[in-house]
Amino acid sequence: MEINKNEVNDVISNCVGMEMNSRSTLAAESGALQKSRSVYSILKNINVLSKCCKTPAYLTSEGLLIKNLEILRDVERRAGCKILLAQKAFSQYSLYPLIGEYISGTTASGLYEARLGREKMGGETHVFSPAYCDEDFGQLLKICDHIVFNSFSQWEKFKDRAQGKVSCGLRLNPECSTQSNDIYDPCSPFSRLGITIKNFMPELLAGVDGFHFHTLCEQGFDALEKTLKVFFDKFGQYVGKLKWLNFGGGHHITRPGYDIGGLIEIIIKTRKEYGVEVYLEPGEAIALNAGFLAASVLDIVDNGMKIAILNVSAACHMPDVLEVPYTPQIDGAEKPGIKQHSYRLAGNTCLAGDIIGDYSFDNELLPGDKIIFKDMAIYSMVKNNTFNGMPLPSIGVIKCDGKIVVTKEFGYEDFKMRL
Ligand SMILES: Cc1ncc(COP(=O)(O)O)c(C=O)c1O
Repeated sequence: MEINKNEVNDVISNCVGMEMNSRSTLAAESGALQKSRSVYSILKNINVLSKCCKTPAYLTSEGLLIKNLEILRDVERRAGCKILLAQKAFSQYSLYPLIGEYISGTTASGLYEARLGREKMGGETHVFSPAYCDEDFGQLLKICDHIVFNSFSQWEKFKDRAQGKVSCGLRLNPECSTQSNDIYDPCSPFSRLGITIKNFMPELLAGVDGFHFHTLCEQGFDALEKTLKVFFDKFGQYVGKLKWLNFGGGHHITRPGYDIGGLIEIIIKTRKEYGVEVYLEPGEAIALNAGFLAASVLDIVDNGMKIAILNVSAACHMPDVLEVPYTPQIDGAEKPGIKQHSYRLAGNTCLAGDIIGDYSFDNELLPGDKIIFKDMAIYSMVKNNTFNGMPLPSIGVIKCDGKIVVTKEFGYEDFKMRL
């Protein structure tokens, strides 16, 4: 789908303006290329671009993705580490060839993601699962470079099949909580994720190449620094014999203000002190603020407040809005009461709580109006569902030249085939 560049240039939407400004500071700091700048002049007109698009649609901006990838590549180079895409956050595989130009590969939560990463990106393929089943394990051995085990019982069960074929690691749990939301905290009490110091068996380490921990969620460098201190206090004496350490995900490296210098410094220090390779496997940071969900208003009802019913659903298309919970940002909208017209935006399912949030707009909303939700690339299309028979949003890319390329469209068969 092509759009008229003059029209685009005439209309200045601030949809991604804030991110662009703060990101350009970061990018400059990390030596970002001129190439990305020209991209932004088109991207700030996302509003116009998305008007050309049939809704609902997830649209990922290639230019904004590149901006994140430039930062991550810069970290890889300066720190001498390897960064992997955690596909659980973002699996829009039409963009994998591009992502693979910047970072070292993918990590997976099981066989299907591992296959996708191997087939569509290449580079290194890693996997961690709380437990592997016999049927999958043979295939994982053919696909993966690293396999990480969650317990000594899993390690004992599979080690003879795995050794010599893949690099094996153990996920450890340093029991160092740095966040308050238990649902995202692998260090919370009774966690099943990772081996604690109490369950650690140094006598079973023969054949183990690396340790892995994942404890963070949308966090800054300070949380990693704190975690590493506890991790090395507990397990440091065993690290010198290993080949690698994997610091997991949850590092919001591409968020404005992230202490990239601190991250690079601590990775270099770890590499030098312990003689290990360091891996990071962020998901969010790869596509943070790089995607949008374009929706349309279907109807307005009034039951003590004005409610706009959209052709998207929190429950189906942005489940983190209900799970975290949080209120996504919208292009051109503010919190309720700030602009002249306030609305509750809600989904088109039977769920009474299918509420996206309360907002205010300059103009009255009318059926047919477009609503552009921001930061919708991550944990959105990977988690969506067809509850109530809701149609799945199509998936597309906003190319650097301003075209929107829709790569996937869904229909009735996609709903039916899963049932
Ligand atoms: C083991 C592991 N690695 C990486 C990630 C990616 O985390 P994020 O998307 O927050 O960076 C997760 C997220 O749950 C995870 O469980």
